[in-house]
Amino acid sequence: MQSSIRPRRSVLYVPAANAKAMAKSGTLDCDAIVYDLEDAVAPGAKADAREALKAYFDANPSSTKQRVIRVNGAGTEWGAEDFKAAAACRPDAILLPKVEHPLGILSAAAELDRLGLEGVQLWAMIETPLGIVNIGDIARLGAQPDSRLVCFVVGSNDLAKETGVPLPKGRSTLLHWLLQVVIHARAYGLDVVDGVYNDFRDQAGFEAECEEGVVLGFDGKTLIHPSQIAFANQAFAPSPSELAEAQRIVSAFAQPENTDKGVIALEGKMVERLHLDIARKTLAKAGSTQA
Ligand code: COA
Ligand code: MG
Repeated sequence: MQSSIRPRRSVLYVPAANAKAMAKSGTLDCDAIVYDLEDAVAPGAKADAREALKAYFDANPSSTKQRVIRVNGAGTEWGAEDFKAAAACRPDAILLPKVEHPLGILSAAAELDRLGLEGVQLWAMIETPLGIVNIGDIARLGAQPDSRLVCFVVGSNDLAKETGVPLPKGRSTLLHWLLQVVIHARAYGLDVVDGVYNDFRDQAGFEAECEEGVVLGFDGKTLIHPSQIAFANQAFAPSPSELAEAQRIVSAFAQPENTDKGVIALEGKMVERLHLDIARKTLAKAGSTQA
């Protein structure tokens, strides 16, 4: 499904078992929140977390932010109950962990169809070797409107764990796999969000990794702490100079002498219609964050 432009610059995980963080979540300036029932919740706290989540959505039935619920995998002892609870909350999306095959997404979509929940989309975590190996088959669902799939989320901690590679600064060990996820998302019109930066007291390291995510082509970054939101919002939005340049390109092609031209010169640079497309997208992206 080709997603319309929805900002995904900052996607904050909030453990559903953490009452304080849950209460704070509605006040934070991130684009999306992932209420987590999976990795951030200990096995003994799963049932309470589910109840806390349902109570939270009952008390807060709507939000200006995108709200996503991460469930435990369908193959785990908590998966079915989590999915039922998540669907009952009617979030914007349900995030499926450790997706390794299109089937998991298709059966989640079929279940949402059965429940008549038209508005609930699916996001998929890519965080295992098989998820990377099968990324083409999984991403292809993006072109299939009834799959509900709109966004990939990289799980870099699990990817490092499952492959046994270290996770050094700069993530040289993961780059090849990260790029696989990005290019397949782009091929099928999906959004794609980068993994988390664990050391939330290391602001400089976090900022460097955000900038790396921008260069790799991600739409945004998953976050673990409120202190990471502001920089992610800035890093993944078009900068003032990019916006000004986009505006100049749009204005130049709108000039009567240029409306029929495929290529023009602007400030000493060649500018083609493909650059006009990019400029329009940049302006739309900036607009989406001002809504
Ligand atoms: N969402 C919302 N609020 C959060 C938050 C989060 N992810 N992380 C911290 N906060 C809140 C704290 O509750 C605290 O609130 P207060 O100002 O009302 O007291 C404030 O931000 C400052 O928190 P701080 O004391 O610096 O951190 P902490 O020790 O409470 O929590 C973590 C640190 C890592 C345990 C916590 O940030 C966390 O659980 N993050 C998410 C982890 C997760 O979801 N992992 C799974 C995906 S990788
Ligand atoms: Mg994980």
